[in-house]
Amino acid sequence: MKDKIKIFKGDIVEQDVDAIVNAANSGLLGGGGVDGAIHKAGGYIIDEECKAIREKQGECPTGNAVITSGGNLKAKYVIHAVGPVWEGGKNNEDNLLASAYIESLKIADNCKLKVIAFPSISTGVYGFPVERAARIALRAVSDYLDKSDIKEVRFILHNDKDYDVYLKVFNEMD
Ligand code: APR
Repeated sequence: MKDKIKIFKGDIVEQDVDAIVNAANSGLLGGGGVDGAIHKAGGYIIDEECKAIREKQGECPTGNAVITSGGNLKAKYVIHAVGPVWEGGKNNEDNLLASAYIESLKIADNCKLKVIAFPSISTGVYGFPVERAARIALRAVSDYLDKSDIKEVRFILHNDKDYDVYLKVFNEMD
């Protein structure tokens, strides 16, 4: 369902949507990149909720996701998804990346959320090649949306290069 996907350049922290997705790590306690930006803008509420989840269920495995409120953000919720570290492509990274997107969307659906914004999971610190990641992300999301009540999924790319890659892959999709 390509019609429900939109590609934008910008800062995901500013998105006024039902949920933004964070490119988190298994520890859920914040980090750099988009994770650092979301925790900083969202404030201590997100930190506390992540800590509580961590204490209750332990680490969030790669390819999975958890949800917290949006704290001080415009977004009502943050879905913290854990993408894979790129290790050359032979360690199931493609499937784990698709899973990070799909598990995030399943959580959004369960919570009846309608508009979701994703960053480019795993393509920063975790080193996943951007074009390969864009193909996996856009295909996984598009296929998932065929059977979902979610109305819109936005990809928010932080720089021109990533935006151009995502747009190219998006335009090439059926
Ligand atoms: N809005 C949108 N995208 C952003 C923003 C932002 N404010 N800040 C950074 N990005 C982009 C980066 O340009 C990159 O393309 O998010 C993408 C993902 O990069 P990272 O944040 O480095 O995430 P990832 O590669 O998944 O690595 C996750 O990094 O910060 C740590 O705690 C995090 O350990 C985890 C790891």
